[in-house]
Amino acid sequence: MTITETSPSRIIDFEDLSFTSGAHLLLKRVLRELPVGGRLGVRAVAQDFAVHLRGWCRAQGHKYLDGDDQIVAWIVRGSATDGRWRQTERAGWSDAREKDSVRTAPPANWGFAARGAAVEAGGPAFHYSLQMKDQVWAEIAPKLYAQAVTSQWNPQTAINWEASFVLDEDVEQAVVQVMTYLIENENAALQVPARFIAQIHPHFREILQLLAIQIADEARHVEVFTRRAALRGRELGLSTVSGQQSLKTLLDEPDFALSSFMLSVLGEGTFLNLLWFLEQHAPDPLTREIVRLVVQDEARHVAFGVGHLQYQLATDAALRDRLALAITRRHEALSQTAGLNEEVFDALILLAAGSWQPKDLAAGYTRVQTLKNEMHAGRKARLEKLGFNEAEAAELSGLHTRNFM
Ligand SMILES: [Fe+2]
Ligand SMILES: [Fe+2]
Repeated sequence: MTITETSPSRIIDFEDLSFTSGAHLLLKRVLRELPVGGRLGVRAVAQDFAVHLRGWCRAQGHKYLDGDDQIVAWIVRGSATDGRWRQTERAGWSDAREKDSVRTAPPANWGFAARGAAVEAGGPAFHYSLQMKDQVWAEIAPKLYAQAVTSQWNPQTAINWEASFVLDEDVEQAVVQVMTYLIENENAALQVPARFIAQIHPHFREILQLLAIQIADEARHVEVFTRRAALRGRELGLSTVSGQQSLKTLLDEPDFALSSFMLSVLGEGTFLNLLWFLEQHAPDPLTREIVRLVVQDEARHVAFGVGHLQYQLATDAALRDRLALAITRRHEALSQTAGLNEEVFDALILLAAGSWQPKDLAAGYTRVQTLKNEMHAGRKARLEKLGFNEAEAAELSGLHTRNFM
């Protein structure tokens, strides 16, 4: 193939390349480089080349002119872009940092298309209940996703499962009870966001990615707590009705904003304090190591919850009342339940005491009271980040489930 530059026209020699073996590819490429109205002379020896070329030009919107004994034909480039690209719409821009790259209301027919793709018109409509940017977006999401990817840890290698330590039987039993409780809460934290992933328009790519990795985080948390519980061959502890009732209200909440408010901002937020407490007071190095890794993941989950609610509240102040109502409703629904599993509460005291000495037990009890105060202060601070005033934040935090999650 040779292309001869004879301004303002060009000539291309297809030699024996035919339309049944890819001539159209080369033709498109050369025409893209010509201005609209530019002329392209075509030389070719393949059979019926002119017939195919004429049909192709008609379909693609280019003008076909008969040639002579040297040139099969002249093509005058039309104004339409080629074929399917003619009726497409650019689905935003791939990089979320570019202005207007993430649209506020991406059309239903963009569906699974990559953000930034040229989407052909006439595609099927995808009906997502979370299709508006305000419903899901957080400015911090791309950064949190990048952080999450680099902070993934392998339960097998990140933790020294061979660490040697000796624990009193009762203290080991307390650890197993706390692990049993944590696993139950991790199961909820895994399934609640999973309910929403398929309801979010894929245009909000970073949100899907972030929730997917959050779910993978919870899967690891279930694994490491399960392995710690089983470490010394003991049976797992007690799972209570009230604990399950509290967690089920999270799974039953169909609204994404309310769900992530209760799960991530209040529940996982409260868990940050619990995990910090365990990082400090767990009686063995293995448990402390596990908790240290888990709490880093949880901090991201909380940050996304706060971030996306702040984003939504910026355009929908009425959401604040709905958030408050959700806490009140949940409090009423759980008012007849027993709250935190007594076994868990006692286990936390024993862990923090470290022994059965009366003065140590008293100190353990005080530490658990301090933990509850810190949980309350943490919730208040996050509620204030969402625009509640101090008194409202204190009142709403006080209504949060006694099960912590
Ligand atoms: Fe978790
Ligand atoms: Fe979490």
